[in-house]
Amino acid sequence: MADLKLTVDHSTDAERGAVDAVLTADDHAVVRVTERLVRGGMARRKARRHLLLPGLHALQAEVGWISPGGLNYLCDVLQVPPAEGYGVATFYDMFRTDDPGHTDSVHHVCIDTACHIAGAEQFAQQLEAEGKQVHRGPCLGQCERAPARFVQGRGEPDHVPADTSGQPAAPHRASVRRLLKRVGVVDPTSLASYREHGGYAALARAIDIGPDAMIDEIRAAGLTGRGGAAFPTAIKWRGVADEHGRSKHVIANADESEPGTFKDRVVMENDPFSVIEGLTLAGLTVGAEHGWIYIRGEYPLATRRLRHAIDEARSAGLLGGDVLGSGQAFDIELRRGAGAYICGEETALIESIEGFRGEPRNKPPFPSTHGLFGEPTAVNNPETLLSAMYIAEHGPDTFRLEGTEKSPGTRLFCLSGHVAAPGVYEVAMGTTLGDLIELAGGATGTTRAILMGGAAGTFVGADQLDMPLTHEDTRERGTTLGSGVVTLFDDSVDFMSLVLRIAEFFRGESCGQCVPCRVGVVRQHEVLVELRDSGAALRPERHELVDDIARAMADASICGLGHTAAGAVQSAIRLGLIGGTP
Ligand SMILES: Cc1cc2nc3c(=O)[nH]c(=O)nc-3n(C[C@H](O)[C@H](O)[C@H](O)COP(=O)(O)O)c2cc1C
Ligand code: SF4
Repeated sequence: MADLKLTVDHSTDAERGAVDAVLTADDHAVVRVTERLVRGGMARRKARRHLLLPGLHALQAEVGWISPGGLNYLCDVLQVPPAEGYGVATFYDMFRTDDPGHTDSVHHVCIDTACHIAGAEQFAQQLEAEGKQVHRGPCLGQCERAPARFVQGRGEPDHVPADTSGQPAAPHRASVRRLLKRVGVVDPTSLASYREHGGYAALARAIDIGPDAMIDEIRAAGLTGRGGAAFPTAIKWRGVADEHGRSKHVIANADESEPGTFKDRVVMENDPFSVIEGLTLAGLTVGAEHGWIYIRGEYPLATRRLRHAIDEARSAGLLGGDVLGSGQAFDIELRRGAGAYICGEETALIESIEGFRGEPRNKPPFPSTHGLFGEPTAVNNPETLLSAMYIAEHGPDTFRLEGTEKSPGTRLFCLSGHVAAPGVYEVAMGTTLGDLIELAGGATGTTRAILMGGAAGTFVGADQLDMPLTHEDTRERGTTLGSGVVTLFDDSVDFMSLVLRIAEFFRGESCGQCVPCRVGVVRQHEVLVELRDSGAALRPERHELVDDIARAMADASICGLGHTAAGAVQSAIRLGLIGGTP
């Protein structure tokens, strides 16, 4: 290969063994030779590059870093230019490219929103005092048990010390249980238990009525995506179903990295078969043979349970050449992310699976026509898949019995921060913010502000408790449901420090590909640092600058990260949480 420049470093037996084990595993989806636009032009290459990310994980787990020799070997066998392999390895927070020496496992401590106010810094210092190697980093998706920690193993598997049973906090009052109906009820490791509790009834009916009727029911139900953008699911599925003559894919987007979000984790840990069934339903409906679950790297328990569930489903004929006697083939491959918020954006996720840096693509074309490997692809959040299963099983009219005309159905909300019982709560859309908080035992202390939708969302004041949780009502009040984050902050919180951390989060997570976002997130952070250091009120010209930066990012960025990076900062200023009295 012309541009393959290997260094003189040699791999060790252990590194070669780890890489070979991944590359020869027989559970990889068969991907045909494909054509892909690679930066320098059109290149025809064997589509084994998608094994780069699993290969990097194997090296990191085996020796604690991606050594030049290990990277050489991986790139050589995959025919990937080492410079590009290095570029991919350095994109992700979980991979080290410097020799850690004899250090032990790395303890990742979350310093975002809920953990920020729950003493994350003191927790990190305490671990350091115990001689542990600590990495302060973004949200780990365990906000209900803040401050959160994830241990990236060296000589031990990756694990979350707080994972015991994986059970979510119990709601304080009965809520609707459609999507969570099996959580805490079924044995997550048993297909038999899943089927005893109604598992695979939805898929059986979807097969029975056929793809067109299934999409019609999804449309009639008015289901919109639960991953944040609220795009109509029927339009997405119809688009992929209408593509003929090419191999197709469906992807469950389980990257769940929005600070404050942990609902997908709770579902995957406690009801993993439902995600498998939901993705299979989506695949059979749009005519895809390949299913992928892209799960965030910091979810070891959910990863283990999903992997086990996929194996069980395959053994039972629920995946494979003839799914549930339908005559259709469908199988699922699990892919583990490696610590990059931007990989939740669907085209960045696709790039990541393909073995490239997780940088969002320009759209159009959209994934429904040109997605994974340039082929038609539907990307959905796990909660969307569970909602589609509910519609398949009960029909659109029953789905609409909860929720409002424009926002039908139920939603999962992630409550954290200053609330009595942080956890995942399912409620009908249209439930008020106040009632949702009451369901979680009520606020602790005097609520000063509530962050809706996570770091990419906005703060609202305690005067918004009457707000119905629908797309239309939140939009009207200048906020968002986003991915279902509701984080409460009482009046003891140092909002300057909190908002500064949110700005720092975006500065750290921007992929840097487009100028407005790459520069905007840095400038925004700088203005806040200056504001904090001055200890004075925000001067009008600095306020104007914040608004200018926000406009430029919203108007000219490629993806949603740039579009939303200023929302929390601007709303904090508006509410007088920072910068002095508005
Ligand atoms: C920066 C960024 C991060 C995102 N993270 C996630 C995520 O973790 N999970 C998710 O489902 N969608 C995420 N999304 C939205 C996806 O791009 C996509 O809209 C979604 O997966 C589609 O699924 P849905 O239609 O079922 O909502 C993110 C978007 C952006 C811009
Ligand atoms: S908006 Fe930001 S995160 Fe998105 S592509 Fe541009 S630089 Fe990357």
